Amino acid sequence: MNKIHFVLICFILLIAMLAGPLWKKDTAPDDGDTAIPVNKNMGGSNLDSISVVANPESIPVLVNKKNKLPENYEPNDLVEPDIEFIFAEKSDKRKMRAQAAAAIEALFAGALEDGVKLLGVSAYRSHATQEILFHYYVSQDGYEAAQNYSAKPGTSEHETGLAIDVTGGDGSCAAEDCFGGSIEAEWLESHAADYGFIIRYPKGKEAITGYQYEPWHLRYVGKKIAGQIVERGITLEEYYKVVQVSK
Ligand code: DAL
Ligand code: ZN
Repeated sequence: MNKIHFVLICFILLIAMLAGPLWKKDTAPDDGDTAIPVNKNMGGSNLDSISVVANPESIPVLVNKKNKLPENYEPNDLVEPDIEFIFAEKSDKRKMRAQAAAAIEALFAGALEDGVKLLGVSAYRSHATQEILFHYYVSQDGYEAAQNYSAKPGTSEHETGLAIDVTGGDGSCAAEDCFGGSIEAEWLESHAADYGFIIRYPKGKEAITGYQYEPWHLRYVGKKIAGQIVERGITLEEYYKVVQVSK
């Protein structure tokens, strides 16, 4: 090998060393380059399995069939909103997280000013209560039917203290389909977002939320996000760009 060959080989080796890492990055990006930061602190980003929510105390937290609450999660600021319920007794079902409780009081007062009387049906549920409820519905209707309207324990928004089921002042149609189309349901469609609530399981979005239409289930997300969701006609899943499969 003469001197010119030697210099040429050194030059080629140098180019290969410099180009190597660039080529490697273009063709095989690492996880950090490809990970999509979907709802990073509020729900998981893996659509094929169930993720544990990283930040369950976050007000706009996404809890659904694919994003479950951590084991033993209990909100630490539950209070009883000063609203009427369809039942008289003392119960954890009256409780909501402080911010949501203040907002539901304002919503009920605002509705009443418009001549619409609302009653609470069920707000907070512990994990144990949701477990009993879900298994009861499965025993009544079978698993396939039950999971269209009742959340498995760990995946119910009622366990966050940020959701409440409501009905009209006469107490009829509590958590029943006949609440749909009522004056109260229409008022909620038009005004809930002004108080930071969304109708969490809207009609026509069943394949995204995983649940049948529930015009009575209000979820507190805060006024800003509620406004954006209503304005865009989307669900919380779509807000986080997570498309939910129905099972
Ligand atoms: N009915 C809703 C989906 C729940 O059980 O949380
Ligand atoms: Zn509900």
